[in-house]
Amino acid sequence: MQTQSPSLIERLVNVPVIPVLEFSSVDEALHVSEALIGGGLPVLEITLRTPVALDAIKAVAAAFPQACVGAGTVLTAADLQAVGNAGAQFAVSPGLTPALAVAAQGAGVALLPGVATASEAMAAMEAGFKFLKFFPAEASGGVPMLKSLYGPFAQLRFCPTGGIDVARAPSYLALPNVVCVGGSWVVPKDAVAKGDWARIRTLAQEAAALRKSA
Ligand code: 3PG
Repeated sequence: MQTQSPSLIERLVNVPVIPVLEFSSVDEALHVSEALIGGGLPVLEITLRTPVALDAIKAVAAAFPQACVGAGTVLTAADLQAVGNAGAQFAVSPGLTPALAVAAQGAGVALLPGVATASEAMAAMEAGFKFLKFFPAEASGGVPMLKSLYGPFAQLRFCPTGGIDVARAPSYLALPNVVCVGGSWVVPKDAVAKGDWARIRTLAQEAAALRKSA
């Protein structure tokens, strides 16, 4: 049973920021990943939002064995199976369905499911999850919402994602129930279009310098 591998939270606790990535080619995935990992962000979430996503996961995992390559936008049991087969070390879903929770029990890849409300947190707990994505973070109440959830759910830990940037990240990382944050800000679309890998590396260095302060 691998709903959440015990080591998932330990791995993610050591990085302040998980880049949320959408790649249009494997070549682009390799360049961006090299810049991010070189800049100090070794945990990557490659989303299933483009046709090359599974190939990108395979290629990045093979090229950078020191990194922890996960898959994002995992919506179904079939997606979970596919990203596990591609070599993803963890999977992230924007929400949680009963079918996905069942699939996670038998999967070889740990799932970080998304929640945005108290009822969703309770359903995720019932399904065996203690480490959750809080999504969409800013639109769902942001830092005040996570502070409120800490009262009844002190045992839960979150990776908030959605609308977070380098300026907003510190207030999330200061919360006792936040392990790390996710975001796409470290990979601006215009930098990718220009092949400006140096800028992505600089943004990764800046993000990697953020620290958990609680
Ligand atoms: C996600 O899938 O987690 C979000 O799309 C990332 O959110 P952001 O683009 O606002 O950082």
